[in-house]
Amino acid sequence: MRIGPYLLPSRVVLAPMAGVTDRPFRILCRNFGAGLAASEMISADARLWSTTKSRQRRDHAGEPEPRVVQLAGSDPHTLAAAARANVALGAQIIDLNMGCPAKKVCGKACGSALLTDEPLVARILHAVVNAVDVPVTLKIRTGWDRAHKNGVNVARIAEEQGIAALAVHGRTRADFYQGAAEYHTIRDIKARVRIPVFANGDIDTPQKAREVLDFTGADGVMLGRASHGAPWIFRAVNLHLREGILAPPLLRADVRDIILAHLDSLYVFYGEETGVRIARKHLGWYCEQLLESPAPIRRELMGAPNTAVQFAHAVKHFEQWVGAADAFG
Ligand SMILES: Cc1cc2nc3c(=O)[nH]c(=O)nc-3n(C[C@H](O)[C@H](O)[C@H](O)COP(=O)(O)O)c2cc1C
Repeated sequence: MRIGPYLLPSRVVLAPMAGVTDRPFRILCRNFGAGLAASEMISADARLWSTTKSRQRRDHAGEPEPRVVQLAGSDPHTLAAAARANVALGAQIIDLNMGCPAKKVCGKACGSALLTDEPLVARILHAVVNAVDVPVTLKIRTGWDRAHKNGVNVARIAEEQGIAALAVHGRTRADFYQGAAEYHTIRDIKARVRIPVFANGDIDTPQKAREVLDFTGADGVMLGRASHGAPWIFRAVNLHLREGILAPPLLRADVRDIILAHLDSLYVFYGEETGVRIARKHLGWYCEQLLESPAPIRRELMGAPNTAVQFAHAVKHFEQWVGAADAFG
């Protein structure tokens, strides 16, 4: 699949997730075959960019190309300026967030709240596409609520305004994360536009990725929560889509090494205090994914006061897990 000048190595991409898709996790997922991995969303308001958190969100050192920066905002000029600034800082694709239902975002009438105002969507897309000479992509939901599924209209506006690819989460803004994602609207959108479309929402196995691609006709799939504690899912989905086979399980020793290297990269990226906190989240997910009785081990890992203790606990528990069998299923 191609986005502007970039030929993606895979049509299975990582969904942008604030608090999750930091640089270490993006690199990890790209190494496992994610075709693309957008940054956590960055506010278009440059006055908010001086915080450590914001600086870390804009850090792409050592990341495979193309580097994708996701922007959230509602004012066309502010978004255009933010896009220009991020391209100057090394962004190779700008992704616009019109999919996030979080109050923090929607309170300022951005994210998926924008879907209620199609003329404003057009003005934003026009301003950003014309502000930069890199591809601009868009992430949306299927509509505002189930009575107002205007995803097809928004997708057509996106195509008219020169958006290079579209990702569609198969829920409305009002759905938040409730109920199951639906793919009919994504199929309708794909049938009405010529730009590449990524289907997103509840895709959590290689077989489901295949089914959603077949049903929607989408060009690619975008995986979010299924990557939590399982960055290797990209390998499995790629293999299934390319060769129709299910990937053999990774060796436990390899999984242990991946987890420990992930921890290390988080500590280096965030430093001691934030490193231990962010690593807790990932360790919790790894425990849930891999261990038969995760609760006591999880508790010990969560309670570790610093990176050294946390790392030592992780080494101990995942060593034991390796010792217990050859491969995980
Ligand atoms: C923790 C978390 C943070 C998210 N942050 C963003 C974000 O910053 N930008 C965005 O466009 N979507 C965000 N999303 C939505 C995901 O990109 C994706 O659309 C959604 O999780 C559905 O896909 P999934 O079922 O594969 O997880 C977030 C989702 C989660 C779970």
